[in-house]
Amino acid sequence: METHFVKLRPLIVADELSFRRAVDEFKAQEPDWPFAFHFDDSVAFPGYVRRLEGWSRGQDLPGNFVPNTFLVGVVGKMIVGRVSIRHELNAYLSKYGGHVGYGVVPSQRNRGYAGEMLRLTLPIAARLGIARILVTCDEDNIASRRVIEKTGGMFENVVQEPGTGVFKRRYWIET
Ligand SMILES: CC(C)(COP(=O)(O)OP(=O)(O)OC[C@H]1O[C@@H](n2cnc3c(N)ncnc32)[C@H](O)[C@@H]1OP(=O)(O)O)[C@@H](O)C(=O)NCCC(=O)NCCS
Repeated sequence: METHFVKLRPLIVADELSFRRAVDEFKAQEPDWPFAFHFDDSVAFPGYVRRLEGWSRGQDLPGNFVPNTFLVGVVGKMIVGRVSIRHELNAYLSKYGGHVGYGVVPSQRNRGYAGEMLRLTLPIAARLGIARILVTCDEDNIASRRVIEKTGGMFENVVQEPGTGVFKRRYWIET
């Protein structure tokens, strides 16, 4: 499968079609994975783009959210994935969630995009003042574990998430 260069950038209004396609692909997967926080078909797209911008400045954050930067991975004009960089860790994130969450559109997987997006995240996190990022993955998420380890993740430990019972592998990466 041919791999193209992926770039990380904020979502823009012109991404609407590509973004909605990505959302639909994630929705069709079992289990569903939260690609687009607080987004559904009824949301007016320009307002959503503004909402994400606001979150990066700590504005109008939903209940348990910390300030975060949501960036899409694009190849040409096509959205192939996204990363969410949390600017700080709350009690949940510092144990289970970590600084960075990422996902690649199902039809675009296994082309190196997640690894590249995580690598591109490092200098962005550094500019946000984060000297090392915590990245976690479910114990059975082999692809995500590989992505973290190939990006230089230093394994710390495995913890069990209360409530779900899911085991999380915790790694640190210097930015
Ligand atoms: C995890 C995820 C982001 C990986 O995206 P991706 O673009 O396919 O990842 P990459 O292509 O950069 O790397 C995947 C690596 O895992 C490996 N891999 C994938 N499935 C595998 C499997 N079943 N067994 C072993 N290795 C596997 C690939 O070979 C590749 O390693 P390589 O570069 O050494 O060949 C993607 O599967 C996804 O979006 N999953 C749902 C959301 C999610 O789980 N996000 C992570 C939250 S922590």
